[in-house]
Amino acid sequence: MIKVKDLTKDYGNLRAVDNISFDIPDSGIIGILGPNGAGKTTTLQMITGFMPPTEGEVYVDNLNIAQNSLEIRKKIGYLPEGSPTYADMNVVDFLYFIAHLKNVHSDILDKRVKDMIRTYGLEQVVGKEINQLSKGFKQRVSLAGASIHNPEILILDEPTNGLDPNQIVEIRSLIKELGQEKTILVSTHILREVEAVCDHVIIIDKGKIVADNSLEEVQSSFHNLTQIYFEIQADTDRLMDEFKTIPEVKNTQLYDKEANIYKLYVNYAKDKELRPTLYDFIKKKDWVILEMRRHQQTLEDVFRRLTEKDQEDTNE
Ligand SMILES: Nc1ncnc2c1ncn2[C@@H]1O[C@H](COP(=O)(O)OP(=O)(O)O)[C@@H](O)[C@H]1O
Ligand SMILES: [Mg+2]
Repeated sequence: MIKVKDLTKDYGNLRAVDNISFDIPDSGIIGILGPNGAGKTTTLQMITGFMPPTEGEVYVDNLNIAQNSLEIRKKIGYLPEGSPTYADMNVVDFLYFIAHLKNVHSDILDKRVKDMIRTYGLEQVVGKEINQLSKGFKQRVSLAGASIHNPEILILDEPTNGLDPNQIVEIRSLIKELGQEKTILVSTHILREVEAVCDHVIIIDKGKIVADNSLEEVQSSFHNLTQIYFEIQADTDRLMDEFKTIPEVKNTQLYDKEANIYKLYVNYAKDKELRPTLYDFIKKKDWVILEMRRHQQTLEDVFRRLTEKDQEDTNE
């Protein structure tokens, strides 16, 4: 449905988005996950046609956005970051106003506004001014505005930012519900958000894609490694290098080092049992094991690994 091809954006000397390509399928909830400054907002602004790319192309239903931006905006509902709304309007006036801006046909105008009020649970606030609403309700009103023209695709930029925990849960479940009918592209820097709502995740870091997979695949690709956490006392500077000489060790990560105490992770294929080998290896070196335990990988670990590669000690 959306095809992003070799997309790049430079702000002066800064390359905010660096030659990314991906496809968004026709249905489902796709997460764009990345730390602050990764290039999520910039990417979404280019996909929605709000900002031209420095290089590359975006296609929505085979239409090139550079030539068909009006046509494409009909297909897309965009909730920008921070979602500014017309704060002094009341909710129902705002919805009619946005509907007019988006050329919703007068025949269906009343029905669309009603539908939005129902879908987004706005019944109790329709007569209120937007600036009197809680952040959670403000966000629902913004979502209603973004979807009033009944777009096929919703693009939501960090929709739960700044909300309290209950509001976050509510907005997430709303997004899940909407995802049954529409394609949703949602950006976030919060891993749990992806776990809670997405079917597919594109992980972006420093303007580059570091993973593009179903949620299950991203999780399981790391579940085929066994990870052992060690604290080892050793009078050597070469401890990490020494571990790399064990052929079955897939990679190692130094977590912390203080004086002669190393805290590290050693990873190896799940179908192997390497613990006796590791134990013997360490003993022969006359190092002291202060702690040794199996570490359960979470998606959080995966995310950290993918986005902090520079700090990682690896022999892959
Ligand atoms: N209008 C702009 N002018 C200059 N630099 C920008 C602008 N917008 C974003 N940036 C920079 O581009 C990078 C990516 O930003 P952004 O797309 O907002 O990332 P994210 O949404 O993932 O936090 C950051 O380093 C940010 O400081
Ligand atoms: Mg952003």
